[in-house]
Amino acid sequence: MLRRALLAASASPRLRQLITTAPQTRAIVDSYVAGETADDAVRVTRALRATGLLVTLDYLGEDTQDPAQAAAVTDEYVQLVGKLGAEGLTHGGAAEVSVKPTAVGLYLGPKIAADNIARICAAAAEVGTMVTLDAEEHAAVEPTLRMAAKLRADHGDLGCVVQSGLRRAEADCRALAARGVRVRLCKGAYSEPESVAFTARRDVDLSYARCLRVLMNGPGYPMIATHDPRLIEITGSLALLTGRAPDSFEYQMLYGIRPAEQQRLADTGARMRVYVPYGGDWYAYLVRRLAERPRNLAFFLRSLRSGG
Ligand code: FDA
Repeated sequence: MLRRALLAASASPRLRQLITTAPQTRAIVDSYVAGETADDAVRVTRALRATGLLVTLDYLGEDTQDPAQAAAVTDEYVQLVGKLGAEGLTHGGAAEVSVKPTAVGLYLGPKIAADNIARICAAAAEVGTMVTLDAEEHAAVEPTLRMAAKLRADHGDLGCVVQSGLRRAEADCRALAARGVRVRLCKGAYSEPESVAFTARRDVDLSYARCLRVLMNGPGYPMIATHDPRLIEITGSLALLTGRAPDSFEYQMLYGIRPAEQQRLADTGARMRVYVPYGGDWYAYLVRRLAERPRNLAFFLRSLRSGG
């Protein structure tokens, strides 16, 4: 309930103003976001790689309303990928990028977004790495999956995301797994209507476990994006049961969340990738992180009230 309320309230300009200008916000943003610039992103990537972690980078921003802005976001990714490649960080896909389709123009028209994503894929391929398309609000899911399927004709390693919170998730996993696609499975960070999504946490988790089974049994490359200890344990058991080699799937977690667990998994020999966001447009990302953990939200609101 709290989560849905905060996500709904986050559209209010007053709340946005309060959160983005409060001095206390900076420390929380810094714990979840690598910094403002591509150089910050590269610096954090270098540090994570030095400890054996894989990385995917996200240039923050979404719902772009203007083709010039969509092109600018695309340029940023192309330059980022070039910088990562020049530092030897992309070898074998060690550092890849995550792209939000609405940030590169999905709502301006599928062709604009597809052309921009193709440019990023081509730049990534040049330095030996790949792209994963994030999943956004449910209205964007179908156009994203359709566009990704077309783009895979030229960029076969283009990955996509399934949100287990959506009722369509299991069917999507079956279709994508059958085609051998790289699929990131997450619970879903958006507030969705009951007509398309499970609203009880338990149902979202059960759906996650069903999707997990489909992906781990399929010929594709599962990317298990969760911090949930039970689901991580189930993944390990399924890997044993299905005889999956440790390099045939990976765990993924967000930058700043459960870092000790990230390191523990990497130290067992598992592939562990950290999703690292950077850029100045962090508001929506921060609200989603606060919303999914009431303890973080309560701490944040208390610090706003006490001014400390
Ligand atoms: P859950 O929220 O149940 O949390 C399980 C445990 O993790 C908590 O008990 C706590 O210990 C810890 N935890 C979780 N969130 C925390 C936080 N903010 N601060 C501190 N601890 C926290 N979503 C989406 O809609 N589209 C997408 O494309 C992506 N992409 C994506 C990539 C990657 C790599 C990850 C890890 C996640 C996403 N997500 C996403 C977000 C995802 O849908 C989901 O909102 C969060 O991962 C939280 O869900 P968990 O599976 O961690 O479970």
